[in-house]
Amino acid sequence: MKEADRTGAQLFYENCSGCHSLAVANSYGSKAPGETKPGERTNGPDFNVRKESRDDVLFAIRNGGFSGAIMPANIVVGEEAQKVAEFLAQYSGKK
Ligand code: HEC
Repeated sequence: MKEADRTGAQLFYENCSGCHSLAVANSYGSKAPGETKPGERTNGPDFNVRKESRDDVLFAIRNGGFSGAIMPANIVVGEEAQKVAEFLAQYSGKK
């Protein structure tokens, strides 16, 4: 992993892992695979399986997800938001 990606992974782990999963960033906040019962309402999409584009990640960060309901807006801003978005665009949806 490149140094810039490592920073993105670290930022993801610190700011997003409570609600999203991505193994490469050691994050397991989404609903467990195979779990069918409605879990915590904060469980967000699993980025091991969901592929995100850089622009979609930036949109979600600015607006608090796509629904604007649960995910808080602007958890990371500026350069950090760019790094998380680039990291996610690179590593999401690999499974
Ligand atoms: C408090 C829980 C919470 C945190 C923290 C959180 N999210 Fe979310 N996120 C959600 C939920 C729930 C959804 C699904 C509902 C929606 O889109 O509004 C979501 C949706 C998304 C989506 C849209 C996914 C799709 O394809 O529908 C992206 C991208 C995203 N989050 C990225 C991030 C990033 C990057 C961070 C960290 C900077 C983050 N989230 C932090 C709960 C969270």
